[in-house]
Amino acid sequence: MTVLCCASVSLARVEYIRHSQGYYEAKLTFRVEAPVEQWSSRFQFESSIQNFTVRTPNTQVFNSSNGITYNFGSVGYFPIAAGEWAIEFSVSYEDTGSMPQLQYATFNGKDLDTSYVPPPTTTMRPTKPPPSGGDYHYDEVIAISLEFYEAQRSGKLPSNNRIWWRGDSFLDDGQLNGVDLSGGYTDAADLVKFGFALVSTTTVLNWGLVDFLQGYNSANQTGYAEDAVKWALDFLIKAHPTSHEFYGQVADADIDHAWWGRPEDWDQGLRQSWKITRDKPGSELAAEGAAAFASGYLVFKNRNSSYAQQLLRHAKELYEFADEYRGTYTDAIPAGGFYDSWSGYGDELGWAASWLYRATNESKYLQDVNRHWAEFNLSRRADKFSWDDKKAGLQVLMYKLTKEEKYLTPATQFCDYMKNSQQRTPKGLVFIQEWGSLRHAANIAFICLNLAELGVKSAEYREFAKEQIHYALGDGGRSYVVGYGENPPQRPRHRASSCPHRPSPCNRQNGLYNPGPNYFTLYGALVGGPGLQDDYVDDRDDYVKNEVAIDYNAGFQGALAALQKLKINEQLP
Ligand SMILES: *[C@@H]1O[C@H](CO)[C@@H](O)[C@H](O)[C@H]1NC(C)=O
Ligand SMILES: *[C@@H]1O[C@H](CO)[C@@H](O)[C@H](O)[C@H]1NC(C)=O
Ligand SMILES: *[C@@H]1O[C@H](CO)[C@@H](O)[C@H](O)[C@H]1NC(C)=O
Ligand SMILES: *[C@@H]1O[C@H](CO)[C@@H](O)[C@H](O)[C@H]1NC(C)=O
Repeated sequence: MTVLCCASVSLARVEYIRHSQGYYEAKLTFRVEAPVEQWSSRFQFESSIQNFTVRTPNTQVFNSSNGITYNFGSVGYFPIAAGEWAIEFSVSYEDTGSMPQLQYATFNGKDLDTSYVPPPTTTMRPTKPPPSGGDYHYDEVIAISLEFYEAQRSGKLPSNNRIWWRGDSFLDDGQLNGVDLSGGYTDAADLVKFGFALVSTTTVLNWGLVDFLQGYNSANQTGYAEDAVKWALDFLIKAHPTSHEFYGQVADADIDHAWWGRPEDWDQGLRQSWKITRDKPGSELAAEGAAAFASGYLVFKNRNSSYAQQLLRHAKELYEFADEYRGTYTDAIPAGGFYDSWSGYGDELGWAASWLYRATNESKYLQDVNRHWAEFNLSRRADKFSWDDKKAGLQVLMYKLTKEEKYLTPATQFCDYMKNSQQRTPKGLVFIQEWGSLRHAANIAFICLNLAELGVKSAEYREFAKEQIHYALGDGGRSYVVGYGENPPQRPRHRASSCPHRPSPCNRQNGLYNPGPNYFTLYGALVGGPGLQDDYVDDRDDYVKNEVAIDYNAGFQGALAALQKLKINEQLP
């Protein structure tokens, strides 16, 4: 038998095909220069692994040592023609935060260069299975929720990026309009930057950071949380180049939605952007932007006062713009059909004034809250808390700031109604609507945890909120948080994580319609959630129940910080 050598060194490469907690599948591809009749190979990993399987047929592992080195090869006659050839393998390992890479490989005695793909620098959080009795690890879920935001980053990624399968994208956003609109967050499965959802997400995240900071601190996540809101605020600063210009959407949603692939691989040309101006105002967008900036001021005022002052200036300008130039933002920005403003702009005007009042303590803003309160009848009981409807948040915040009964009454009505009268699924999830059912429940939990924090029906509202959040973490029969707990979703609708590792191509067929799990685990993402009968299928094609979005995780993360704070203070019901 002749073994004809050999493999060239330069073309060897490792592709990671699939990766989830403690497991990956990969492929080592290289060039065989001349035909061989049998082969053997030796792999060495960076650290000890638990199980090594060669997926290439008619092969066998001969021996191994220390869980690090594996000798394997063909069983008997196994002709390979000259040309490109690949060894496919899978690895199981103890998930302690880093993934043991293939470090060194040989083929028929010759070294192969495995360095084609730079080693991922993942600092992925290991997730322990939740202990029985529903004592969920809020700190871990906060941590991975922040990783989800990191996976949504658009623009030039910093060197401390933790999502190793993401890279720079859309660096030329804004170029068609002569401004730099790179950065910010992509919205959901798609790659559009929807300004209204982004500003709402930012305000809600800031609120959780300001009022449940102790929860973030005890989870050791404050730095990451500040980075997450700063990533949004830095983009919003660029989106507000002059006092009466505020960009509220980057990318045509129809063009975007017709495409599937990695953000890094976008090949459909420069993306259009839209703004509100004096001629085409948009009070919801400008006011919620003001709320995002004013709450951002509160996050940063003791950390970076010059940055905080900059945020406050944007907040004041946007608020004046929103109040003076009234109009509904979808008249200026083509977000209709995606993020319509059903509740009008009155709630955002009141909400923005309340955050400015909190930030500045200027009586002008208190008067303005009351002016909007009267003009827009904001004393009504809200029927949700969402990117669109901020009434419940306004009522709770104003009660906190003034302790006045007029704000307390509708806030209490809201939590009482949600707890006692709102329809629920058989397993107890408060059900507002099928589209993103869990984010609605999480937002309600967040509002009622804030009210409980002010001493209002504390035990009752905390119990209610905990039950809603626990539904998502596992009490509903499974976990609805990707990468966490029992039977989590494996096929969230999300472009980047559905794609195989580069340089493998990605498209609708092998990304969206891949019947297997997403190639990368989108840790921390809360999926849309079940229908009214607790019905749910882990199907990537279901954008109602299985999409993810920046707004879904915002109230959810704030509620987790609140629960974590209660846990460490031994106040958890
Ligand atoms: C907290 O986070 C920092 C930075 O990520 C890390 O170095 C440190 O070990 C963490 N501490 C704990 C107790 O987890
Ligand atoms: C404050 O924020 C600005 C703007 O992001 C930044 O350039 C600066 O380095 C920050 N300063 C500190 C002390 O962190
Ligand atoms: C806010 O202003 C009021 C007077 O308008 C004053 O009594 C109060 O102390 C101020 N609060 C803070 C936190 O500065
Ligand atoms: C304001 O809301 C209250 C309570 O829902 C309702 O009774 C009243 O008719 C509303 N007023 C206006 C002007 O919409």
